[in-house]
Parts: sequence; C-alpha cells; structure tokens
Amino acid sequence: MTAFRKPQIALTSHAVPFVIRAERASDVAMREALLDVCFGENRHDRTCQRLRDGRAPAAGLALSAMREGELVGTVRLWHVSAGGRPALVLGPLAVAPACRELGIGAALMHQALAAARARGHEAVILLGDAPYYARFGFSAEKTGALMLPGPFESERLLAIEFQIGALDGAEGMIVPTGAALAKRRVVRPLQAHAA
Ligand SMILES: CC(C)(COP(=O)(O)OP(=O)(O)OC[C@H]1O[C@@H](n2cnc3c(N)ncnc32)[C@H](O)[C@@H]1OP(=O)(O)O)[C@@H](O)C(=O)NCCC(=O)NCCS
Repeated sequence: MTAFRKPQIALTSHAVPFVIRAERASDVAMREALLDVCFGENRHDRTCQRLRDGRAPAAGLALSAMREGELVGTVRLWHVSAGGRPALVLGPLAVAPACRELGIGAALMHQALAAARARGHEAVILLGDAPYYARFGFSAEKTGALMLPGPFESERLLAIEFQIGALDGAEGMIVPTGAALAKRRVVRPLQAHAA
C-alpha cells in the first residue's frame, strides 16, 4: 500500500493567500490610495504618467492583487509607439508596504507578462530598477535610442521582447497610442420648468 505523506504547510501570519485577478471598477479607490502610499502625492508629475494621461490601459492588462478582500497590489500596461514600433509600457507596479517580500510583485509581473504575450503583444517597456526587473527578463539592451516625454535616467529604461527583434532599431520618442478614456457622462439634475 502506498503511504501518502501530508504536505507540510507553515501557517504563519504571512501565509494569508492572495489572488491576482482582472482589475474591476470597484478597485479604483483602493488602487488610488495604494499608489499614493507607494509613490507619494506627486506621482502624477512622474514622466511615465505622460504616457497614461487620458488613456485607458490595454485590454485585459490591468490586474489587481487581492488579499482578504483588500487590494494589495496593482499593475497596468499601456499601448505605446516606441519610435514607431508598437509596444506596451508597464506601470505602475505597486505592492502595499505591509505585503511586500511575499512574491506578490513577482506574481503580478508574471501574470501581466503572460497575458500580454498571449494577446500577441511583441514587446514591453518600463522605467524601473534594473536589479528588480532583470529577474523577469528586462534589460536596457534595446532601449538606448528611445526617449520619454520628460526627464528620466536612461539606465532605468528597460524592455523585454516576446518577438525577437521587435525593438531592433527602435529609436526616438515613446508616445501613447492607447484608446482615450471614456469621458464620464455628466448627469445634471432635472430643472423645474417655470409654468
Ligand atoms: C517593487 C515592488 C513592487 C516589489 O513588490 P514585492 O511584492 O515586495 O516583490 P516580490 O515579493 O515579488 O519580490 C521581492 C524581491 O524583490 C526585491 N526587490 C524589491 N524591490 C527591489 C528594487 N527596487 N530593486 C531590487 N530588488 C528589489 C526584494 O529585495 C526581494 O528580493 P529576494 O527575492 O531576493 O528576497 C514593491 O517593493 C513596491 O511596491 N515598491 C514601491 C513602488 C515601486 O517602487 N514600484 C516599482 C516601480 S520601479
């Protein structure tokens, strides 16, 4: 008879599971609060924000990490033209300070990159710390001749190709190409008509 050994699971306070799922409209307030905590209130002045202003994220490429009903991580990808080459820009990636070092950032990255690849996108670019993003395959090898619409440190402009050569010769400004955000309909209160 085969004896099955029970898997050993250490249930520490850090072992609360999290799930990664598509971002929902109901996540927006929690996501904004998380980004304020992670990047500060001046986050809207950051150079990469110029690639996102007034645009919708790429279809199916906005993810939330949820833990016990709370949003604890976020990542989005955006359509751009990288010196004429179609690509995506990834960001912001953020994980709540209390939930870091649990693999949530890596899970968001792996899931976002797999989804982008599955949708046929050929390259992803981001502005970030090479020591963190190198583990996902990002490097500055193909980004040396690319620019962003604002100040940035060139060694932090990184890319990964899903299609070999997708960024070969890419040169010039990275500009947003995503769909414009749907404007909110302004609902005016009904006015009483004078008799
Ligand atoms: C960067 C961030 C998303 C990582 O999230 P996380 O859930 O803690 O990441 P993971 O648990 O998957 O990975 C942790 C590992 O990444 C490393 N790491 C985290 N930030 C790093 C950085 N900036 N540079 C190098 N390594 C980093 C940790 O040291 C740890 O290393 P280890 O696996 O060798 O122990 C999170 O720290 C964060 O939200 N930071 C503030 C916002 C930010 O800087 N976003 C990225 C924009 S560049």
